[in-house]
Amino acid sequence: EKGTYPHFMLKEIDEQPLVIRKIVQEYRNEQDQIKLDTDIRQAMLDTDRVYIIAAGTSYHAGLVGKQMIEKLANVPVEVHVASEFSYNMPLLSEKPLFIFISQSGETADSRSVLVQVKKMGHPALTVTNVPGSTLSRESDYTLHLHAGPEIAVASTKAYTAQISVLAILAVDTARAKGIELDFDPLQELAIVSSAMETLCDQKEEIEKIASDFLETTRNAFFIGRGIDYYVSQEGALKLKEISYIQAEGFAGGELKHGTIALIEDGTPVFALATQENVNYSIRANVQEVVARGANACIISMEGLDQENDTFVVPKVHELLAPLVSVVPMQLIAYYAALHRDCDVDKPRNLAKSVTVE
Ligand code: M6R
Repeated sequence: EKGTYPHFMLKEIDEQPLVIRKIVQEYRNEQDQIKLDTDIRQAMLDTDRVYIIAAGTSYHAGLVGKQMIEKLANVPVEVHVASEFSYNMPLLSEKPLFIFISQSGETADSRSVLVQVKKMGHPALTVTNVPGSTLSRESDYTLHLHAGPEIAVASTKAYTAQISVLAILAVDTARAKGIELDFDPLQELAIVSSAMETLCDQKEEIEKIASDFLETTRNAFFIGRGIDYYVSQEGALKLKEISYIQAEGFAGGELKHGTIALIEDGTPVFALATQENVNYSIRANVQEVVARGANACIISMEGLDQENDTFVVPKVHELLAPLVSVVPMQLIAYYAALHRDCDVDKPRNLAKSVTVE
């Protein structure tokens, strides 16, 4: 139940620090090491290429997962939108491992891919919030998100749980391969959890951003580079699905190849700056849109922040930055929808789980 919360979405955003702690608990053994099913570990060691299949927000979590698995464990990863993969299967590697990411475990587009790849005899792992779900039952292995029921149509805590579990999987694989890392995901996730608490206490400030940038606009842009680009796509999806403001996430460098034509006086542009290697170039992109009249909101990470940034999130490990930068995105979408009197928990035309193809 909602308790004292006006909406499930706000409650679920606020639950994120606890969910991350729960994941740390569930995936830690008595020696403070990662606890993971040895069959899953073996499947990660046996594969020559991981294929992540998902839809919507879960797809966005998969994009972040790809970065973590490739950078930490050195295993190649492709991420595919389920409904596309289903009708247009790419050439597969010799020993593919399929990872299905699905909060509900019931998404028909993902299931259709699962049925096809099982027929071909390939192993499948499902990362889900519902262990008894169809995708979980029909795949070989399951990783549980431990996020608790997610009721609001807009997915929030499932996204951060998915990224956290994928981080643990990536590091476990790296260690099993003998790769030395200076990255302890359980410790880093504990830091993330505290950072999320700080962000959840900054609702007034974030609500003001929603008012300042989105009160009357018909559209909004989200830009980022690298991992920030993936989070910008998630920020745009959150905003459009509950506030009906037309929103799109773009790679900062792509703007000048077309999209910048849409920037007018006052167009809101949310820019994410949490990655050191692109901090300079994303800020150059902000300059480009500001020169065309955009109303730019820069959300940066402590340590990379500059004077006049609109909002600064606490510092966490770079690969885990999405877990904190997405929180203001979620809250901005929430308040924008609230200010427009939209039905936050049940946006028009949408269902919580999409069980038709
Ligand atoms: O249950 P799933 O994770 O498979 O659902 C996938 C998408 O339908 C879902 O993430 C959808 O995009 C959300 N409404 C986004 O907030």
